[in-house]
Amino acid sequence: MKKINIAVDGYAGTGKSTTAKKLAQKLGYLFIDSGAMYRAVSLYLLRNKIDFDIESSELIAALDDIYIDFVITEGHLHPTVRLNGQEVENEIRKPEISAIVSPVAVHKSVRRAMVAQQQRMGLEKGVVMDGRDIGTVVFPQAELKVFVVADIEIRAQRRLNEMLNKGINTNLEAVIQNLKERDHIDSSREEGPLKQAEDAILLDTSSMTIENQVESVYRLAMERINA
Ligand code: CDP
Repeated sequence: MKKINIAVDGYAGTGKSTTAKKLAQKLGYLFIDSGAMYRAVSLYLLRNKIDFDIESSELIAALDDIYIDFVITEGHLHPTVRLNGQEVENEIRKPEISAIVSPVAVHKSVRRAMVAQQQRMGLEKGVVMDGRDIGTVVFPQAELKVFVVADIEIRAQRRLNEMLNKGINTNLEAVIQNLKERDHIDSSREEGPLKQAEDAILLDTSSMTIENQVESVYRLAMERINA
């Protein structure tokens, strides 16, 4: 059967990662969480006390020392992210990383390094990648592009539940604040801003269940695969 690349872009808490993961599983495709890569870069900078307010030569040089990959590990159904060989899946979801990831992801050097890696991952096709600029920058030729949106209160509640389930201590107000800040930074940056690709299909998940979401994107994917 023909293999395609699928780009799932949109705002945080819209269910895009969950949908992309389940879709990849259903199709036997590789799921890649591009946000996890920006989070891993942020973790590296934080650990090594490298300033990210400006695109300094130190920041640019650090990018050469960062190697990110995804592996299937025990206890995880989906690939988890590694930073220089160390699994960092839980660490990158903490509020300290959420607070700095969008400012880190603004820098052109950071984006170019990640986009190059993401494009390599898609060369063989059969990839479902979720992020902000996948349909516009990473895979502009993707056979299927979906842009996922939902109301802010619903997104925040979903993200809060996710974090509380993981034992991360936070509250609704803090989550709303973080989502709004990231939405603003992500949408207004110069390089690879968050925006719907012209040929992307809009999916509003405010009143959809995960099963509905997966099913509707799966149907679209099968149409493209059989075309
Ligand atoms: O899951 P959530 O939407 O909270 O975030 P994520 O997908 O883990 O991405 C975290 C942050 O990384 C986003 O808010 C963006 O600032 C940045 N990002 C990006 O710039 N480009 C991407 N392709 C993916 C993420």
